[in-house]
Amino acid sequence: MTLFDNHNRPINYLRLAVTDRCNLRCFYCMPEEGIHYLPKKELLSFEEIYRLVSLLASMGITKVRLTGGEPFVRTDLMKLIRSIVEIPGIKDLHLTTNGVLTSTFIPELKKIGIASVNLSLDTLDRQRFKTITRRDEFEPVLKTLDQLLKYDIPVKINAVVMDGKNIDDIVPLIELTRNSKVDVRFIEEMPFNGEGNHYPVLNWTYKKILSYIQEHYPSLHKIPDPDFSTSYNYTVPGYQGNIGVIAAFSRTFCGTCNRIRVTAQGVLKTCLYDEGVLDIKQLLRTDQDDSAVKEKLYEAFRQRTKDGFEAEQKRNSNLPVHESMSTIGG
Ligand code: GTP
Ligand code: 5AD
Ligand code: SF4
Repeated sequence: MTLFDNHNRPINYLRLAVTDRCNLRCFYCMPEEGIHYLPKKELLSFEEIYRLVSLLASMGITKVRLTGGEPFVRTDLMKLIRSIVEIPGIKDLHLTTNGVLTSTFIPELKKIGIASVNLSLDTLDRQRFKTITRRDEFEPVLKTLDQLLKYDIPVKINAVVMDGKNIDDIVPLIELTRNSKVDVRFIEEMPFNGEGNHYPVLNWTYKKILSYIQEHYPSLHKIPDPDFSTSYNYTVPGYQGNIGVIAAFSRTFCGTCNRIRVTAQGVLKTCLYDEGVLDIKQLLRTDQDDSAVKEKLYEAFRQRTKDGFEAEQKRNSNLPVHESMSTIGG
């Protein structure tokens, strides 16, 4: 059974942030001192997450992506993962991770049938990695990439394109796709840096990223985009992996948006740009039975914003930027 919203868009994809904490400090995501982390009791417990995902699965959610913060910073994450893959109706479970703590879990992720892993990696240069993430953790991330390839887990590298910071990494990242079955996606920077007033100036729009790539790879070839894809996809003839460009900020995905988000504090967002439409944690903690919780969720899906992006474009850019991506989960 498919779940539809009030604009007749199917909803089948849940992005769930399991923590707002992170062991890196990517400057486009949070300040050096970190963000004001939630006390642990404010996070959904594993039992609450299990119940919520089961309810959403019974309503039509089939795809789950665990995000953060960094998901592996949450104690015993594998326990949660093991339980989610068993939920009837959940066809595929994905992870977005920065790779610092991930490598040792890869054999087990393979065994339980993880569908894919998206690895955040903006540069292949150790020094630049340290500048961008403010931490010296490049080696463990490379180890994770190695292991993902070794265990043949589908992997997409996410690289946020930043003026003056990692433009020289675009070609080396593309070169990874020459001999390995890895996809690399270049992402426009978005205004979610947890820094208060700074609104990034988007110098590297997807068009500029794409022209840069075409200049360096004149044979770049467009391939079909999967349904609901956030990226425009390409390949270099003869290369094994694909290249994607995500117009995260300058284009709207609203028309075909099939995703809902649950933030680390258990708030439902039916659009990336809304401020949260339902406090699920509070619902789960007030003794409501399953049908009452489901009714509240249905109600939220019936009031989904048609075009959050349009509102964002009209937003006064002098207003403080949105919260950190690490609380929302990307
Ligand atoms: P797939 O399941 O592989 O399609 O992953 P994904 O692209 O949905 O997820 P991922 O966590 O790898 O996110 C990649 C980038 O896309 C991040 O910068 C996200 O913030 C951005 N992104 C994901 N969903 C949306 C969305 O609904 N709107 C916008 N504008 N950007 C999004
Ligand atoms: N703009 C664009 N992408 C971002 N991410 C985190 N913060 C931002 C931002 N301000 C990306 C991370 C990760 C994904 C979930 O979101 O690099 O790969
Ligand atoms: Fe951590 Fe990801 Fe934010 Fe970087 S972008 S600080 S890895 S949550």
